[in-house]
Amino acid sequence: MIEDKFELDEKLKHIAIIMDGNGRWANKRGLPREFGHSRGAETFKKIIEYCKDIKLNVLTVYAFSTENWKRPKKEVDSIMKLLSQYVKECEKSINKYDLCVRFIGDISVFEETLRTRIEKLQRVSANNKFILNIAFNYGGRNEIVYAANKLLSEGKEISEESLSQALYTSHCPDPDLIIRTGGDCRISNFLLWQAAYSELYFTDVLWPDFDKNELNKAINSFYSRKRRYGGLDKDSSSSDKQARKDTLC
Ligand code: FPP
Repeated sequence: MIEDKFELDEKLKHIAIIMDGNGRWANKRGLPREFGHSRGAETFKKIIEYCKDIKLNVLTVYAFSTENWKRPKKEVDSIMKLLSQYVKECEKSINKYDLCVRFIGDISVFEETLRTRIEKLQRVSANNKFILNIAFNYGGRNEIVYAANKLLSEGKEISEESLSQALYTSHCPDPDLIIRTGGDCRISNFLLWQAAYSELYFTDVLWPDFDKNELNKAINSFYSRKRRYGGLDKDSSSSDKQARKDTLC
């Protein structure tokens, strides 16, 4: 169990979150979905603050997928507006939170003013320590294809190592823990390559209701697990040997 006041260690450097459930949170209150996204944006900011307090190295959030364009224009516009507001706020708070902001996904679709602001934000925050990856217009399959094409166009060989380095996330380690709020138990095209050995945590809590206590539950769950990366525990391999010996004797 983590203590009341704690800091993360090297086992948990990168948390990625699928922030799901904004629409249902609003529907339950008879409000338009846009209200849910707006509340979701508030939660997002509180979680960043908390992650900074507990000394997380990397936080990645799934803010808009390549599939989210299928939603009604009014809803898409509201998410774009929230993003644009956040980028403006972030310009003022990057140093307070020591934030290094990186957009992962295809940002070429943004109108020029927003794109220029994002590029500037990435540039001026580049030397800060706490990495915040915002996945926007992001799709995991799309990212893998993009990385493979990049390597081909540079005449490089495709290997696990080179492909990892050609992904949007080449600047950070793979996520140790992926959390999805909102009750669905799927990855939805998020960090497909990087999730190979991530621990997954699903909760029914809708994203606007997610808070530091809920995050602590996910962190506790992470620390209760054994990561074997396809190998064996040191303990279990020796106890297996003992068991085999006992059987043979
Ligand atoms: C999924 O909930 C959420 C999204 C598609 C948008 C996430 C956006 C935010 C949290 C706003 C903040 C973003 C930034 C970058 C400031 P859903 O709408 O699919 O919920 P539902 O499953 O209940 O319909």
